[in-house]
Amino acid sequence: MGKDVIIACDFATRAQTLAFLDRFPGRKPFVKIGMELFYAEGPAIVREIRERGHRIFLDLKLHDIPNTVKKAMSVLRDLDVDITNLHAAGTIPMMEAALEGLTRPDGTRPLLIAVTQLTSTDQTALENDLLIRAPMEEVVRHYALNARRAGLDGVVCSPLEAAGVHAACGADFLTVTPGVRFAEGEKGDQKRVMTPAAAKQAGSDYIVVGRPVTAAPDPVAAYERCLREFVD
Ligand code: C5P
Repeated sequence: MGKDVIIACDFATRAQTLAFLDRFPGRKPFVKIGMELFYAEGPAIVREIRERGHRIFLDLKLHDIPNTVKKAMSVLRDLDVDITNLHAAGTIPMMEAALEGLTRPDGTRPLLIAVTQLTSTDQTALENDLLIRAPMEEVVRHYALNARRAGLDGVVCSPLEAAGVHAACGADFLTVTPGVRFAEGEKGDQKRVMTPAAAKQAGSDYIVVGRPVTAAPDPVAAYERCLREFVD
């Protein structure tokens, strides 16, 4: 599995997003489109970024009853993105239904990965807010195994959990890891974080980096630093 850096384009408008991507002349970073941009601009922004030649991770984190998720995925499959996702907390039947909805008549489909636990959730929130008593590592591993049983391609997790997920689910099971910060950087609302270099050591397949790149004084330099630390 080729390692790559995915930039989280958490912008509010098409104009801001395209202006940001225009700063990367001659390269086409792998981009993540999340809820903010998708809800603001709709499917057209996905098609437009795709037409510009970027690979896309459409991060909408679906979580609903199986039939609703299946139907939503059958709409998303026509956007021709590379990766999309849902919450593993939706249970195995929901994940199976999602996979069915995402599969095109010719059998092809985008990769489908499951969010295990958000990287903004820590052990205290897991116990107090969600009433889940098991250690975070064990919860993430269990959700990853559920995703694999449902036939998914991988999970979103913290780089701290990537090695445990690979040990439980196999080296080919993708770990896509947000919660990445430079050694000297601000954590913001993220709790379970690692540097790009440490994420590489931990075995992450893709790192998802938002604010450390998008809010950097020089986003291109910050992106190149991620590539140097994580890919080279
Ligand atoms: O700005 P920052 O690097 O924290 O951005 C991380 C991105 O990854 C955000 O778009 C966030 O929605 C997403 N994400 C996450 N934790 C997850 C799943 C997705 O931070 N478990």
